Amino acid sequence: MEARREYTLGKLNSEDLNLSPVDQFASWLEYAGEKGISDTTAMSLATADKDGMPTVRTVLLKSFDSLGFVWYSDERSEKGRSISDRPVAEILFFWKELERQVRIRGNVEMVGEEEVQDYFLSRPRESQIAASISQQSQPIETRLELERRYEEFERKHDSELVLPEHWRGYRLLPSRYEFWQGRKGRLHDRFEYVKSGEVSDDWVITRLQP
Ligand SMILES: Cc1cc2nc3c(=O)[nH]c(=O)nc-3n(C[C@H](O)[C@H](O)[C@H](O)COP(=O)(O)O)c2cc1C
Repeated sequence: MEARREYTLGKLNSEDLNLSPVDQFASWLEYAGEKGISDTTAMSLATADKDGMPTVRTVLLKSFDSLGFVWYSDERSEKGRSISDRPVAEILFFWKELERQVRIRGNVEMVGEEEVQDYFLSRPRESQIAASISQQSQPIETRLELERRYEEFERKHDSELVLPEHWRGYRLLPSRYEFWQGRKGRLHDRFEYVKSGEVSDDWVITRLQP
């Protein structure tokens, strides 16, 4: 399996870094958007269950600010159960066209119901129905059964849908970020930002070996 290639597109110098990691992330995300890269907000979400077994899957980042990074999911899913047992996670963005990776780690808290409701109601109706009828990560006999449930739900609800109880918003509260820029000869640039105190918003920036 040969997947070797050189990374030569860019570089990351300490003097170019924003002192605020969320601003650094915002500028990389914006740049990825300007470059026309698709699915820039798709991120790998790693969690660990109560026995410490790691699991990872893709979810979509729906909002972020200096407080944290938000996604939505079913609390009964595997990830939902893991986060309820261990409210920690790491998210990862890989923008391969830019040879860039960002990792963000921290505690996870639930998003307030009002915010979840606002977002749920902003989604297309099909997505709302799918979220309402699916018990994410549970087995189902056939595709037909899923479609039958969908149609039945659709028949019974012709007005505005209500937020399903199991549908949740999660906010990762970053305590560590890492920005990676691929470089020639595997001498990649890596910088981590570690929060210096529980309450302070000061970050210690360190260059890491590739
Ligand atoms: C591009 C992409 C975006 C996805 N976005 C979400 C999402 O925002 N929320 C979600 O629950 N699942 C999303 N999924 C599905 C998850 O990857 C996963 O299959 C599902 O959440 C069940 O994961 P779990 O069994 O580990 O809980 C997405 C999958 C892909 C490929």
